[in-house]
Amino acid sequence: MEESLKDTLIGFLDFLKEGLIVIDQNKNIQYMNRYAKDLLNVKNPEGKRFSQVVKNNYLYSLISADIKNELKEEIIIDDDIFLAKVLNINGKKVIHFQDITPFEIYKQAKKDFVSNVSHELKTPITVLKGVIETLENEDKMEVIKGFLKKAKKRIHQMDSLINDLLILAKLESKEEKIQKKKVKLRGVVNQIIDDLQHIASEKSVKVKNSVYSDFTVFVDEKKFSILLKNLIENAIKYNKQGGLVSVTAEQKDRYVLIAVSDTGIGIPKESLPLIFERFYRVDKSRSRNVGGTGLGLSIVKHIAEAHNGKVEVESQIGKGSKFIVKLPVE
Ligand SMILES: Nc1ncnc2c1ncn2[C@@H]1O[C@H](COP(=O)(O)OP(=O)(O)OP(=O)(O)O)[C@@H](O)[C@H]1O
Ligand SMILES: [Mg+2]
Repeated sequence: MEESLKDTLIGFLDFLKEGLIVIDQNKNIQYMNRYAKDLLNVKNPEGKRFSQVVKNNYLYSLISADIKNELKEEIIIDDDIFLAKVLNINGKKVIHFQDITPFEIYKQAKKDFVSNVSHELKTPITVLKGVIETLENEDKMEVIKGFLKKAKKRIHQMDSLINDLLILAKLESKEEKIQKKKVKLRGVVNQIIDDLQHIASEKSVKVKNSVYSDFTVFVDEKKFSILLKNLIENAIKYNKQGGLVSVTAEQKDRYVLIAVSDTGIGIPKESLPLIFERFYRVDKSRSRNVGGTGLGLSIVKHIAEAHNGKVEVESQIGKGSKFIVKLPVE
């Protein structure tokens, strides 16, 4: 091969975001590209023994193995997962390794997601199966009505899960554009309070709309209503009997701050960083009596971010929580 072409190829290897090492029969390093040197933290390794320079047991055992053609293995370097390949070419070993950590995290998240969705659907389906089997042999109208009510509740549960999943999928794929317009916030909040009145009455929770009548926000009305509905619903669901929920709005510096506060059970400190994750519910036993799947706050976060905003939370166990949506003023 022409010398200048060799230089070009070697130059190219330094641009790869993958590691490449060549060692000779005596386990001396002949070549390392820049990525490998940076990752393994070595300088001028050429001509030195591999074991002296590279302090990674996974790599060392790979090059020590007796390889006919090719060996492929997942190894760990600096807490990250790499897919390493070792090739035997003319008695020399060529090691190639690539960081697959992001891919592994993605694979795990996908696995968790599918298993969570399946689990959430399995429970109502099991109940529905039971209901149908009972109804087949039941003649008494009262009993039939009772079972139909049970069935309706479970269908509603599946329906809202699917709705939430669809909302999340659309937000994540960014397939729907945010369509912002000037919206009077007080009216939006009143509408949500009306929609949630039945669950508030069940717990005798009072929801107070303290937003001034002329307070406007520049938002996608439909999506922003979903955001607020989720926050207000949580503030009612996780409240005490006879508790209070209040919604306020103000402009501070270059931000609009919309807050939903409650006098409810509060959120433990260690759970605060997790509540916005899909399917996360604090202490499943306390949430079990309260319907829900743990998608609400992740929808809230997505919608806030789609408006270039964010959500913050302050909470005290036994006293209550405050969720603050921060939107930049346009
Ligand atoms: N205002 C609140 N007070 C106390 N805990 C809360 C509050 N809001 C949320 N949480 C906790 O955070 C968890 C996640 O909330 P999120 O809204 O994402 O899910 P969910 O309410 O359980 O179900 P859904 O998908 O129906 O909204 C809840 O299960 C609850 O434990
Ligand atoms: Mg919720």
